[in-house]
Amino acid sequence: MIEPTGYRDLDELLARLDRVAGLDADALEAEHTSVLGRKAGVLTAASKAIPSLPPEERRAFGAAVNRVKQAFEEAFAARREALAEAERRRAFAAVDLTMPGRARWVGGRHPVTVTVEEISGIFRGLGFVVAVGPEAETEWYNFHALNFPADHPAMDMHDTLYLDAPPVPGERGGRQLLRTHTSPVQIRALLSQPLPVRAIMPGMCYRNDPFDPSHAPAFLQIEGLAVDEGISFVDLKATLVHFAQAFFGGGTRTRFRPSFFPFTEPSAEMDVECLLCHGAGCPACKGTGWMEILGCGMVHPRVLENCDVDSERYTGFAFGMGPARITMLRHGITDIRHLYEGEMRFLGALATP
Ligand code: DAH
Repeated sequence: MIEPTGYRDLDELLARLDRVAGLDADALEAEHTSVLGRKAGVLTAASKAIPSLPPEERRAFGAAVNRVKQAFEEAFAARREALAEAERRRAFAAVDLTMPGRARWVGGRHPVTVTVEEISGIFRGLGFVVAVGPEAETEWYNFHALNFPADHPAMDMHDTLYLDAPPVPGERGGRQLLRTHTSPVQIRALLSQPLPVRAIMPGMCYRNDPFDPSHAPAFLQIEGLAVDEGISFVDLKATLVHFAQAFFGGGTRTRFRPSFFPFTEPSAEMDVECLLCHGAGCPACKGTGWMEILGCGMVHPRVLENCDVDSERYTGFAFGMGPARITMLRHGITDIRHLYEGEMRFLGALATP
C-alpha cells in the first residue's frame, strides 16, 4: 500500500519495473493484478487516495502516480507482446517444411457437358439461340404435334415412361409422360416465338430402355430447328457440314443417307468418317468407315400447321443428336455406362478444366 504522500513508496515500486521483462505468462498476470488490478492494485489504490490529499500536494503526487502507472502499463504490454511472439516462433518451428504437400482433387467438367457446350457454341456462332423445354410433357407435344400416327409403337408403354399425374390445366393434351426426345421443344419454340426461329435445344430425355453398353434410360439430346421463308435442303446440308467440320476438325468427310422420321420430310441421317480409322474400316465403325451422328430433315408441313405456321410461306429444317454418343465416338468409349458412373479414374483421364 502506498501512503498518500509516499513518493518513496513509488520509488520502491519502480524497482519492480525491471523485473517485468523477465516474467513468464502466469507471473506477468499476477504482477499486473498486484500493481494495476482494479480492486487491489497498489497504484489503483494510490490514485483513489489523491482526492483526500491536501490541495497543494494533489497535483504533484497525482502526476507522479500517473508516470509510474504509464511506465508499468508499457512494460506489461511489451512483455505480453514478447511472450506472444515467442509462442508464434515456437508454433512455426513445429511445422515441418520438408513434408510433401497433399494431393488435391481438382474439379472438371463432365466430358458430355463439354460436348454439349461445344456444339451449342458452334450453332450460336451461326445465329441460333439456346432454348429449353420441360422434361415432363404431354402426348400432344411429344408425339401428336410431331405427326406421329395415333398407333405409333413409340407411344407404347413398353417404350415410353408415362406419368401417373393429372392433366395440367390449360396445357394441350393427353397423358403426361417423360419426354422421349427433345423434338417437342421444336413445337414449344414455334408456338412461343415469332418467326423466323433458329434454336438449339439441349435437354434430358427418358425411355423405358435397359441400361446396356449402348442404351441409357436417361440421356441427353440436342435438337436443332430453323424455320424461315425460303429455307431448303441446301441450308440443312450446309449448316450440318459446317457443324461437323467445326466439331470434328476441318476436312472431316460427311455423307447423308435417306431415313424416316414422322416429323420431317424428306428425312436423312448424317454420318461422319470414322474418327478412329478415317474411312479404312475398323471394329468401331463395324468396317464401314462411317459413323452415324445425327438425324435430320425438312420440317414436315403438318408439324408447321400444328403450330399455326403457314406451311405455304415457311419451310424449315430440324436435326437431333445424342451428345453422349458423340462423346463416345470422340474418345473411343465403347460402353455408355462409363459416362454415368462418376468413376474418378475414368473422368480424370478425360478431364477438361
Ligand atoms: N427425335 C429423334 C429421336 O429421338 C431425333 C431426330 C431426328 C430429331 C431427326 C430431329 C430430326 O429433329 O430432324 O430419335
